Amino acid sequence: MEVTHAIESRQSIGRVTQEPISREMIERLLDSAVHAPNHRITEPWRFHVFTGKGRGEFAKARAETARLMAEAEGDEEDLISGRVNRERKKAFRSPVVIAVISEAGRDEVETLENYAACAAAVQNIQLTAHSLGLGCIWRTGPVAYHDHMRRFFDLKDGDQIVAYLCIGYPDMGERQRRRTPAAEQTIWHEG
Ligand SMILES: Cc1cc2nc3c(=O)[nH]c(=O)nc-3n(C[C@H](O)[C@H](O)[C@H](O)COP(=O)(O)O)c2cc1C
Repeated sequence: MEVTHAIESRQSIGRVTQEPISREMIERLLDSAVHAPNHRITEPWRFHVFTGKGRGEFAKARAETARLMAEAEGDEEDLISGRVNRERKKAFRSPVVIAVISEAGRDEVETLENYAACAAAVQNIQLTAHSLGLGCIWRTGPVAYHDHMRRFFDLKDGDQIVAYLCIGYPDMGERQRRRTPAAEQTIWHEG
């Protein structure tokens, strides 16, 4: 697929089938990620791939996180178990989930730039998935960033959770995409 076409036709695909994705395909996605630009070649990305029964570990961590959050917010037990179940289920919405982690840099600027590099890596994965006929959505949210999830991934200070990429064969059609033309957001400085 031509790159500009891939960029312009990619959409977040939140509904996918449970058809398994081959390991070879997943590796292609990851290999595309590491081609992203990264300042001082820090290669700050770390990936956790959850597939098949392996999603159970992710589901458990999400469910535990949901419980901690609900308890902290003072929910009653029946509300808590509803939240816990909903979070557990989310881990199984797609056959593959790739968590993308950005490692801390040696100083604040490098940490910031490492995150930027990881965001570029995420987009490489999204575009490669699209070109392979796969659907992908970048997911985050309060559960995603919670300290309990940080402990699950054994993160150190300054490491950051960048994305949970939920990937599978699309089970939805194209949507209308809304984008403000770049011309409206651009100031030209010309000679
Ligand atoms: C940092 C980041 C976090 C996101 N988190 C979520 C999320 O938690 N849930 C979700 O449905 N989409 C999430 N998205 C995807 C956006 O909703 C999506 O990119 C946006 O709606 C534009 O749609 P498009 O990707 O089809 O162009 C996230 C995107 C980014 C860049």
